[in-house]
Amino acid sequence: MSSTLIKNIGLLAGIVPEGVLRKEGSAQGETGMQENAWLRIEDGRIAGFGKMPGPAGHDVIPDPSPVIPSRPEGAAEESQIDALGGMLMPGFCDSHTHIVYAGSRDGEFLDKINGLSYEEIAARGGGILNSSDLLNRTPEDELYRQSMARVNEMMAKGTVAMEIKSGYGLCPEGEMKMLRVIRRIKESVPAAVKSTFLGAHAIGRKYTHEEYVQAVIDMIPEASVLADFVDVFCDEGFFTVEDTERILSAAKGKLVPKIHANELAVSGGVQVGVKHGALSVDHLERTTDAEIEALRGSSTMPTMLPGSSFFLGLPYGRAKDYIKAGLGVALASDYNPGSSPCGDMRFVMAQGCIKMKLTPVEAFNAVTINSAYAMGLSLEYGSITVGKKAALILTEPGWDITKLAYQYQTPFIRKVIY
Ligand code: NIG
Ligand code: FE
Repeated sequence: MSSTLIKNIGLLAGIVPEGVLRKEGSAQGETGMQENAWLRIEDGRIAGFGKMPGPAGHDVIPDPSPVIPSRPEGAAEESQIDALGGMLMPGFCDSHTHIVYAGSRDGEFLDKINGLSYEEIAARGGGILNSSDLLNRTPEDELYRQSMARVNEMMAKGTVAMEIKSGYGLCPEGEMKMLRVIRRIKESVPAAVKSTFLGAHAIGRKYTHEEYVQAVIDMIPEASVLADFVDVFCDEGFFTVEDTERILSAAKGKLVPKIHANELAVSGGVQVGVKHGALSVDHLERTTDAEIEALRGSSTMPTMLPGSSFFLGLPYGRAKDYIKAGLGVALASDYNPGSSPCGDMRFVMAQGCIKMKLTPVEAFNAVTINSAYAMGLSLEYGSITVGKKAALILTEPGWDITKLAYQYQTPFIRKVIY
């Protein structure tokens, strides 16, 4: 058994009792904190934590005699990390990314600056189809290499669990190539990786709309061997509610849905996702009260992607209204070449606060436990809870949750622990 003791933690943040898998309503604004703490890791999992012996720090009710329990029987040498007063927190969980892609879409950046909308760029054959052409020309090893650079970038910024989608193949060969690359990433990194089959991201070049929906349905048996989830871009100009129904019905019992909904229009994607037990419905830039109502009482996590609101100039999701209605909200990066070329979860948190008016703790829960929930990982990730994976960020001294979102570009990580 391996054992590591982290001592002198200035602030242990994100403590959540066992059994809480998501934070909803007013609970989204709360998380457990312990100043002046220790935490023990055994075999990669959180084994215990508590208050450091010695001065009581800023505790309101000082604990007269805190002790660190001696290391467990059977643990050989116990290594120690001196946190030097830094904050220890759960690593970021990013439940929505498209980081497996080839090349770049920087060529469209000027069109965008000159005023073309996401839909106009797509209608000219740019956008997702542009990425699809590039991806289908790129050998699998090279695609893996390019994608791993982004995975490493995300991990260096503190992401310890991520979801990655297919959706730039848009034909059976290309989609399976992407899913194999995601599997290879999963096998080669310490971060947790979940895989989503997003065949229904755009209509593949060689197909009519009807032919392609059928082709996606035909890909499901093979995709379900490689992927965990199925996604459909249920939005104006892409896939209809009826297409989504057909695809989700075909995937039933094989792949759990996570839906792209309500980015470009009020699409009905939320309702169809909830109906099919989606784990999450994502984007939600354009939602009415009907979507909020549809989500109440469901197991579906509304997930907002402020990076794409920023990059495309779309409205920001109504996160506060969702929370007021008793729902939880997750935030994710949507890292992709067309609408959010950035996987920085601290920037996501900052936008959650500045643009969506979330409190720093609400934003923190949105990028940790709720985002873990949105990819089926909150039993293992997203909080400081005994038994969960010790996938943690140790910061430099002087950091707290508010500062994470406020001073969102200052280097803060001393060490990411897996
Ligand atoms: O989530 N909206 C659809 N899909 C991606 C964008 C993909 C792309 O433009 O390459 C998104 O924003
Ligand atoms: Fe997306």
